[in-house]
Amino acid sequence: MKNVLVSPNFKDILRPNIKIGTFPDGDSNVFIPNVDKYKNKEIFLCHRLYPNQNTVLIELLLILSILRKINAEVVLLAPYLPYSRQDKVFLKGEAASAREICQLLKKSGCKKLITFDCHFIKKKGSFVFGQLPIENISLGPELISFVKKISSDKTIEIVAPDEGATYLVGKGNNKVMKKTREKYKDGKISYRNIESMKRSFDIKGKNVLILDDMISTGSTMLKAIENLKLGGAKKVYCAAAHGFFLGDSLNKLKVSSDGVFVSNTILSPISKVGIKKIVINCINKFNG
Ligand code: R5P
Repeated sequence: MKNVLVSPNFKDILRPNIKIGTFPDGDSNVFIPNVDKYKNKEIFLCHRLYPNQNTVLIELLLILSILRKINAEVVLLAPYLPYSRQDKVFLKGEAASAREICQLLKKSGCKKLITFDCHFIKKKGSFVFGQLPIENISLGPELISFVKKISSDKTIEIVAPDEGATYLVGKGNNKVMKKTREKYKDGKISYRNIESMKRSFDIKGKNVLILDDMISTGSTMLKAIENLKLGGAKKVYCAAAHGFFLGDSLNKLKVSSDGVFVSNTILSPISKVGIKKIVINCINKFNG
């Protein structure tokens, strides 16, 4: 494909044409073969920013440095944007990491970022954040049509486990639960346990899909499943655009739900919804 660069960590979707190696001490080495053919061009770059977010971010900065030198402009497609959960400063002295990362990408030569279900945007469309233009694509429709297939229930209820996921469940759908978290505890892991999960709608006898932007430790989904089953829901499925499945959360979710699946923005054993078609569409649009 013309003017498209693909990192090795995107190889499940497109054939890579960037080489990335690791020196014995762990440093990354980035090499773009035939680099001159990208001189003064606009480039579509496909590069994942998770897992190993800190390492792959450095790799991205190195790729951008090579392209800056040959005056190439870059549109980056990174399916999941790491650090997107901290877009605000909550405690004096904290870094607003999401803004810093976006600014860094912009300063390093990224003209635009295309990503999926970006945590701090919470709607699909075009935005500018940290001076970086971002196109946020939502995988809500793909995840919903997948559950309709596997459940054979076209009228399955789509539920948001918290207000942040409201945009995913569709306009006019008020099946949004209310989640509160405890305060941060002292310690190395920055995480706030879920304090409560409340529901103000009836779900008795219905099949349900709980839909969120991400499943990380699985706590949100597990609480939501518990609440919906207690409320008399029939089958409860859970899905998200991005699946991290930290610790043994995937096993717990498999045991407590009737099905769990995510997309392949991040690769996991249950990445059932593919983004390849959307990526190809973005590339075709880019090439006019
Ligand atoms: C929160 O605002 C997010 O949308 C997700 O609900 C949350 O990050 C999921 O995390 P966990 O799986 O750890 O509950």
